[in-house]
Amino acid sequence: MSWREEAVDAAGRRLAFAEAGPPPGAPLVFLHGAGGTREVWARLGHGLSRKGRRVLALDLPGHGRSGGPGCRSIEEYAAWVLRFLGAQGLRRPVLAGHSMGGAVALACALSSAEALGGLILLGTGARLRVLDSILQGLRADFARAVDAIVGYSFAPGAPPALAEETRRELLACPPGVAEGDLRACDAFDVMDRLGEVTLPTLVLCGESDALTPSKYSRFLAGRIPGARLAIVEKAGHMLMLERPAQVGEAIAAFLDSLP
Ligand code: COA
Repeated sequence: MSWREEAVDAAGRRLAFAEAGPPPGAPLVFLHGAGGTREVWARLGHGLSRKGRRVLALDLPGHGRSGGPGCRSIEEYAAWVLRFLGAQGLRRPVLAGHSMGGAVALACALSSAEALGGLILLGTGARLRVLDSILQGLRADFARAVDAIVGYSFAPGAPPALAEETRRELLACPPGVAEGDLRACDAFDVMDRLGEVTLPTLVLCGESDALTPSKYSRFLAGRIPGARLAIVEKAGHMLMLERPAQVGEAIAAFLDSLP
């Protein structure tokens, strides 16, 4: 089954996304991380769509084919995502977000749980302080800051081609958008609000994640009522690229468990 590419206007603005898998059915909507695009979900999305899941992967404003300016806060991205879901008429989709995308998914769950059917949080946290050296470096020397981020993104022994792919993706992001993303992450903090999450939740994290350490995921799973936790072996921050089969199995089992 191949990706179908589409674009919609949400509140007068073009948002691009890819879709695969058979409608109808409650879809799974993927949200990429800071400076990324929907391409990061290609392997995992293909695997899940082959198993009969309807999968959509969105380019957030400012990213990939959506283009335009990025947002200045996690809440602003969340408002875009909720408008996109409404514009597409998607009924109670499961939102799956990675890193900054996980923060966006959490913000959607906290503001509009009634619009969603579940939450999958990958390599993320309830608070996402960013190293000052990364924030400063993005402005001073973008390519070098990207190299630093990529250097932290994979478990030891990950194929160099994956790091190269991620480096290319990040370098393609306008520096101002990438910096805005990481500043939005740095300001994000819902550590005191996790008890308010009412959606079925799966938390996934690479055991060697150096950017959002597994401590952050344990915290999420410990505080979100009923949440399940899966720590993925031999994976770092980019677990869906590093271990797509294991991540896909955990997601499929979670989706099967939903009412
Ligand atoms: N979940 C659970 N615990 C968290 C947390 C989260 N999301 N965020 C922070 N904490 C914990 C920290 O582990 C720390 O605990 P400790 O006192 O037991 O060591 C405490 O809360 C205070 O953390 P923080 O205010 O973030 O300060 P810090 O000085 O420990 O760390 C950084 C600041 C930037 C160095 C750190 O957040 C880090 O290394 N981040 C990862 C690198 C990065 O830039 N990631 C990008 C994410 S998009």
